[in-house]
Amino acid sequence: MSFKPRKILVTSALPYANGSLHMGHMIEYLQTDIWVRFQKLRGHDCIYVCASDAHGTPIMIKARELGIPPEELAQRFSEEFVRDFADFGVDFDNYHTTHSAENEALTVEIYNALKDAGDIYTKTIEQAYDEQEGMFLPDRFVRGTCPFCGTEDQYGDACENCSKTYSPADLIDPISVLSGTTPVKRNSEHYFFKLSEYEDKLKAWMKSAGLDKNVVAKLEEWFEAGLRDWDISRDAPYFGFRIPDTEDKYFYVWLDAPVGYPASFKKLCDRRGDLDFDEYWRPGHDTEVYHFIGKDIMYFHTLFWPAVLEGAGFRTPTSVYVHGFLTVNGQKMSKSRGTFIKARTYLDNLDPNYLRYYYAAKLGPTIEDIDLNLEDFTARVNSDLVGKLINIASRCAGFINKRFDNRLADSLADKALFADMANASGQIAEHYENREFSKAMRMIMTLADQANRYIDERKPWIMAKDEAQLRDVQAVCTQGLNLFRSLMIYLAPVLPEIAEKSREFFAEEQWQWSDASKPLLGTTIRKFQPLLTRVEPDKVASMVEQSR
Ligand code: MSP
Ligand code: ZN
Repeated sequence: MSFKPRKILVTSALPYANGSLHMGHMIEYLQTDIWVRFQKLRGHDCIYVCASDAHGTPIMIKARELGIPPEELAQRFSEEFVRDFADFGVDFDNYHTTHSAENEALTVEIYNALKDAGDIYTKTIEQAYDEQEGMFLPDRFVRGTCPFCGTEDQYGDACENCSKTYSPADLIDPISVLSGTTPVKRNSEHYFFKLSEYEDKLKAWMKSAGLDKNVVAKLEEWFEAGLRDWDISRDAPYFGFRIPDTEDKYFYVWLDAPVGYPASFKKLCDRRGDLDFDEYWRPGHDTEVYHFIGKDIMYFHTLFWPAVLEGAGFRTPTSVYVHGFLTVNGQKMSKSRGTFIKARTYLDNLDPNYLRYYYAAKLGPTIEDIDLNLEDFTARVNSDLVGKLINIASRCAGFINKRFDNRLADSLADKALFADMANASGQIAEHYENREFSKAMRMIMTLADQANRYIDERKPWIMAKDEAQLRDVQAVCTQGLNLFRSLMIYLAPVLPEIAEKSREFFAEEQWQWSDASKPLLGTTIRKFQPLLTRVEPDKVASMVEQSR
């Protein structure tokens, strides 16, 4: 049977371009990047696109405070994100912005298609208005006393104390966050998308999408509560795309944000020339599309977005993969505890490979939250990566380099042990495929333990003192290095930089997943370079200090 590469398009949620990336965001981008790298290593055509989410009121307000145009604010953060992603080894095929010509064209195309299908209507609604600022206020820009429990200073959409939801008009003594004045009620005509008509189609999609059971449970809850039509417009002033044939109505940021996925892909098509947009975004093709997101934005990705795609004649996502939220030392990230750690603050202190491995060791396919315990982080990375993995190579490489003129032996000393390593390939691959990264890491570390035990038993450093045993030293070290090499191939999606250096050490051109099952024998390797140093607890402490 000949191998037919799958055609897979993968996205991560588009980060809001009004604040820096933090360790919570990195769960998502690292999870996605690992999965994409795994697919590529397996020989599939896998494309990974993302973009900055540039539109919406918070960005507009922040830019106003800084006295710069919102475009410029979004641009600045975008540039920061691109550097952070690159330094963490997150390798997009294209990174774009939602404030782009491609996105506007596609958003308008989708809107027009929905309109032609009769899925858009207008309705006048009453909304909080700030007379001093001259603008309508989103729910989050109104604060006041909770009408249910009386807690003061709550947002206009929900109470942090009693968790009840309501509208800003229900608040007692509401004030505008922008001006501190009391908002008035004002009428405005809004555009609605008939989400309610998509219930059956969404249910069918849900069944076909292989969603995690917790995601399905959430969706069923929402179906049970009934789908309400979706307000897709906002009044000027607003930073976004103007709705065609209107003077002062804009698309709500959440309409054009997911369109940023196909828009970023479109940009890539234009750049590369060998990709067919329709093959990935129109129905009836043998391609796969996956969205990786956090659990807070499930409603948008499992209801609004598939319905909009369906209604506009686009294909729906193959699946949506949802991860949980980050806690640090068992608690919500907090500035006062120094656990609200920005991506850059981490990079200023610690090696990105540590975090890539740690998150991989913790990640599964569910929406369960993930805890970054800083002591466990230090202990785990030092024990697994430095103590187990790298140790295999550093104990064997010197002998091959110095005593055998860099030559590996012509055959394996322990074929059965290597076979164990090779036979794990299918199971490890399945774990990666199913986003069971923690299971994959556990299997890999068990194999690393076996490799270390092998070296401990043979003790090449003792054998090397006896000229008569010199051939055996070469055999044992060749065995050890081959075990290390296979492990490094299995870990390449997680530790691409270290895998690359290891590949160069073995003087090989390229690694594919299947190479892990084939030993490297009788070839000349290069001088071993240190691959990773231990996590220094001091550095972890200074990262926390700098985050306070
Ligand atoms: N702009 C929207 C997404 C639009 S997608 C069409 C958005 N941006 S965000 O910057 O707030 O979040 C980007 C991604 O990071 C989301 O998937 C979100 O769930 C994830 N995370 C943000 N904070 C997080 C944690 N603290 N923990 C885990 N993931 C988190 O939402
Ligand atoms: Zn309350």
